[in-house]
Amino acid sequence: MRVTVIGSGYVGLVTGACLSDLGFKVVCLDKDEEKIRALQEGDVPIYEPGLKEVLTRNRADGRIRFTSDACEAIEHGDVLFIAVGTPPAEDGSADLGHVLSVAATIGRHLKGFKLVVNKSTVPVGTADKVRAAISHELVHRGMSPDLFDVVSNPEFLKEGAAIDDFMRPDRIVVGVDEGLHHVRSRRMMGDLYASFNRHHARTVWMDVRSAELTKYAANAMLAARISFMNEMANLADVLGADVDHIRRGIGADSRIGHSFLYAGCGYGGSCFPKDTQALVNTAKSHGHSMSVVSATELVNERQKTILVDRLTQRMGSDLTGRKIAVWGLAFKPNTDDMREAPSRVVIRQLLLRGAQVSAFDPVAGPHALQALRSDLRQEPHLLERFELATSDMQALEGADALMVLTEWKNFHNPDFEAMKALMRKPFILDGRNLYNPEALSELGVAYQGVGRRNDLAQLMDFSLPTEAPNAAELMNA
Ligand SMILES: NC(=O)c1ccc[n+]([C@@H]2O[C@H](COP(=O)([O-])OP(=O)(O)OC[C@H]3O[C@@H](n4cnc5c(N)ncnc54)[C@H](O)[C@@H]3O)[C@@H](O)[C@H]2O)c1
Repeated sequence: MRVTVIGSGYVGLVTGACLSDLGFKVVCLDKDEEKIRALQEGDVPIYEPGLKEVLTRNRADGRIRFTSDACEAIEHGDVLFIAVGTPPAEDGSADLGHVLSVAATIGRHLKGFKLVVNKSTVPVGTADKVRAAISHELVHRGMSPDLFDVVSNPEFLKEGAAIDDFMRPDRIVVGVDEGLHHVRSRRMMGDLYASFNRHHARTVWMDVRSAELTKYAANAMLAARISFMNEMANLADVLGADVDHIRRGIGADSRIGHSFLYAGCGYGGSCFPKDTQALVNTAKSHGHSMSVVSATELVNERQKTILVDRLTQRMGSDLTGRKIAVWGLAFKPNTDDMREAPSRVVIRQLLLRGAQVSAFDPVAGPHALQALRSDLRQEPHLLERFELATSDMQALEGADALMVLTEWKNFHNPDFEAMKALMRKPFILDGRNLYNPEALSELGVAYQGVGRRNDLAQLMDFSLPTEAPNAAELMNA
């Protein structure tokens, strides 16, 4: 069985790379010719640990190749994965433009039976639209509209651990509908993922609509856990409790578990924000409301500015003359993805309030600059006060505070004494709750986590240093 993956982004490339590693002959298609050229030359346009190694190995063995020629790519695969983006439209619904344009392209090039597998995250009912778009083109070409089947196979990988997630899935959700081809489609999907089902069955079979909704349900549930903990953390701050104790206390309950209970400065990324919005939108278009999911989004939007609020409580809302260091720009560690990253909101707020910002991220710097240029296109002068530092320590020079926004491993155990020596004020606002408040107090570092106690942050004097009076002023006095 040969595989074509249409859309060579985070999901498409990982899918193609991993399936080629399992022995399938894979062609990855993308309309972005520059991206394809880079891939053909052995470059990997995204940062994803382990991806380059898998691609290099399989490219060398002739199991994976890249093209921007849709005709050739569609001809190649028995299975055609759709893995293009589904960004949010103006009203929050998922924009299906890319998916449906791919469907039409498939319809224009189909010659014999193909199984179309939708891997993009799409609202319930999209498979029907994909079917209709392909059939429309087939009929237009005077061909049978039944030359294909469409199944749903949502992707659950996490950026930063995508290869591992794909190769060791908790489960594989496959939605197949009854119809002319369902026996063949089910067998093909079974064959495709047979390697993962050897030890025990990991594939969860269902109908297409349920599979489409399962993906949104999973993301909404995970996002809700984060927002729930963020609300708890904000209350803990008011009550003088420590959310990290609460996290451990509830996580130990096997009904709750430890995952996704970390409070912080909000979630970002290409999935949770857009998928929760799209779910609310789908419900609304069917006359339903999703109160929990709506509240999840609202809490997250507020949470993105929590560190700026804490900072201005100490320093006042005008941050002119302040330098704020930022560690971490990507929406999470081990990726260069800046989509919906909380750092974008935080940095814009700091710049609007007059601060100078010096930021460091181990890999996302160039993408961050691009994202900030786009966010600040109406107020480009603000970027004059933004700089990308070349190291975490360089970002700290003369800083009045450090904000930690992404939990990269490099930031877990910094040299606090060296940091104190570099900073104008040793004040850490920890948006990922990486550090121990008591240990930092003992070191004389003021610390403000999210829902973590720290007295020094309340006591430290954050007034700007006044200029020493000059001789004339002294004489007049
Ligand atoms: N990124 C994740 O962690 C993740 C995880 C699970 C599911 N998803 C879902 O998977 C889908 C893809 O996400 P992504 O992060 O890989 O997106 P991405 O933006 O990184 O990649 C999409 C790719 O599709 C290409 N493309 C768009 N239209 C095309 C067309 N007509 N023909 C060929 N190529 C085309 C783009 O050029 C781009 O390279 C989305 O629906 C997303 O919600 C993403």
